[in-house]
Amino acid sequence: MKDLMFYYKKSMRKNFALGAFNFSSLEVLKAIASAAEKTSSPAIIAVSESALEYMGENFVMANAKLVKESCKAPLFLHLDHGKSFEICKKAVDLGFDSVMIDASALPFEENVALTKKVCDYAHEKGVFVEGELGQIAGIEDNTFAKNHIFTDPQKAKEFVKMTKVDSLAVAIGTSHGAYKYKGESRLRFDILSEIEKKLPRFPLVLHGASSVSEKLVKIINENGGKIDGAKGVSEELAKMAVQMHNIAKINIDTDLRIAFTAGVRSSLKERPENFDQRTYCLNGQKMVEEVVVHKIKNLLNSEKMA
Ligand code: G3H
Ligand code: 13P
Ligand code: ZN
Repeated sequence: MKDLMFYYKKSMRKNFALGAFNFSSLEVLKAIASAAEKTSSPAIIAVSESALEYMGENFVMANAKLVKESCKAPLFLHLDHGKSFEICKKAVDLGFDSVMIDASALPFEENVALTKKVCDYAHEKGVFVEGELGQIAGIEDNTFAKNHIFTDPQKAKEFVKMTKVDSLAVAIGTSHGAYKYKGESRLRFDILSEIEKKLPRFPLVLHGASSVSEKLVKIINENGGKIDGAKGVSEELAKMAVQMHNIAKINIDTDLRIAFTAGVRSSLKERPENFDQRTYCLNGQKMVEEVVVHKIKNLLNSEKMA
């Protein structure tokens, strides 16, 4: 089977990116796998520290193994936003394909030292490592930064050289969660281009790239929800990052949470007498699958890349 490095290298030559889709339930994991299989696309199944704790490592490893083995498309298990050496080591030891060490809140030298320590350990076992430089604003449980600190291109070059990291998450104006912008979405493509000049053909990662579909938010609000003022990165902008830049991986979590919630709420509203969670969770699962298929075909261009 082709490994993760194969796809990252391919993304540098072709206009496509890997989707890293977060899951914290079996339904969402199954939705991602089914979408990848239907579109013959590789996909990264990502687990944050808090999702790992929520599901439990035995549940994650057993189900990820089963789903990876039965899925006809390649799936890679990734630790998202690991904040310490210990959690990254644990993920490597458990058998993750890839880990992210997110030491971006630390001063540059400390970020370098911690990222290098994770790389030294993970590379020894053939595990891919993503680092982060700059800070991506927004809140999602464990992952919190109040303001953007855009990635410094020269520092990015030094960081990659010193740490030997395999890919780098950059801060160019995206943010985590559903409330990314007050007005129009904006990305600092000028900074991205400068980073690319310093790091030619090096795989970069875009976090916080959910588009927060107005249609799905409307479904949530029409079915008892109350999500006001949500705004994501326009899909056109995210597409430009994939097609014209070295963005090799795009992280999507919020869009899946919104799709699942829309599916559950509309099912419960439609059948108020129902209390069998398999029905409404399945509806959530189907809506997540639709979103993942859409991302693969329209944003990531990773269809038939398996
Ligand atoms: O980037 C952060 C991810 O969306 C994970 O968020 O810690 O709420 O699972 P979480
Ligand atoms: P969103 O909140 O935009 O989906 O970003 C998810 C993410 O970056 C996970 O690491
Ligand atoms: Zn993230």
